[in-house]
Amino acid sequence: MSTKFPGFATRAIHTGQEPEPATGAVNVPIYLSSTYVQEEIGKHKGYEYSRVSNPTRDRLETNLAALEGGIASRVFASGMAAINAVATLLKAGDHVIAGHNLYGGTPRLFNQVLSNFGLTFTYVDTSDLNAVEKSFQPNTRLVFVETPTNPLMELCDLRAISDLSHRHGAEVVVDNTFMSPYFQRPIELGADMVLHSTTKFLNGHSDGLGGVVVCTKPEQVEKLAFLQKAAGAILSPFECWLILRGVKTLAVRMLQHDSNGRKVADYLAKHKKVQKTFYPGLPDHPQHELAKRQMTGFGAMISFETGSLSNANKMLRKVRVCSLGESLGGVETLISHPATMTHAALGEEGRRKIGITDGLVRISVGIEDVQDILDDLDQALAAI
Ligand SMILES: Cc1ncc(COP(=O)(O)O)c(C=O)c1O
Repeated sequence: MSTKFPGFATRAIHTGQEPEPATGAVNVPIYLSSTYVQEEIGKHKGYEYSRVSNPTRDRLETNLAALEGGIASRVFASGMAAINAVATLLKAGDHVIAGHNLYGGTPRLFNQVLSNFGLTFTYVDTSDLNAVEKSFQPNTRLVFVETPTNPLMELCDLRAISDLSHRHGAEVVVDNTFMSPYFQRPIELGADMVLHSTTKFLNGHSDGLGGVVVCTKPEQVEKLAFLQKAAGAILSPFECWLILRGVKTLAVRMLQHDSNGRKVADYLAKHKKVQKTFYPGLPDHPQHELAKRQMTGFGAMISFETGSLSNANKMLRKVRVCSLGESLGGVETLISHPATMTHAALGEEGRRKIGITDGLVRISVGIEDVQDILDDLDQALAAI
């Protein structure tokens, strides 16, 4: 990793974000060029064609690797493209152990696309180490986890899962989208690769899709770079720039997300119409101690049980400060209904198996004035 800055916020603002040498511009330029002039055959300044590499993209890849503590990163057109790229490192006959409660799009990709190419998947509660241990097969190559999970906020012990997986000869990939590297750095706990939907907290402004895979080994970097070139699901220079800009405020945004998140979770946990609140920062969360050990904050993602689809809809119709919609991690508070949105693809049976009910509501607490968010939830919950 090439950074000289020990401080996270300094790295976010400066690593890969050095002033542009030709003009001194403090912001990385958006290099909108598909191709690059060459002096003679094979003689150029390191860039040939933007599917292969692009200066704005290079800067972002350097920055994000430094934030997660990896040796390099590769960015893709969306979080799903990043997940697909990681899966493409495998070959037919390989087996993957995956968390049973991932973002719904991930099992959709695994079950409806990648299983057609000879990969097999076992879904398991990754908060239960024994269950993970029992799922290994001789051909298990990858263990794919989210922690906290989406939307039930279950944690897994990253150090223990990494040790276990390495003993079985498998690599661990962590989707760290929910916490961002500000609050959780899986590579420091033994993970082999970390990925994000940069669409969420890293960008932070709900204005562009993207995905990143942060690597710990040169062969991962080489293979993913080859995939960018060969398969082409790269991130555009403009979207790279949006993330470079967004990430400069990641540290302050995450602090505010976390502060607001804790207050909203406390409020929901005490509300008489809310049957259950899922948030790792609450002392009654089954893995609260692990959360304190593994993460440096609890973040802004909360789910809560309203009791029924009709109750969920009654309240969701009323929100005014919170925006009802898919996605998370933006400066604005986003509220969603997993059963019909992010986890619709699992089907009723799939959701029932892991405990996603029709009354479950998920909130990504933004950085507005927290009292305005609380007042909004108050008037919306009154409709139940
Ligand atoms: C945890 C998580 N991982 C991956 C994704 C997929 O990312 P994208 O929508 O950028 O493709 C999402 C999207 O919501 C997500 O929440």
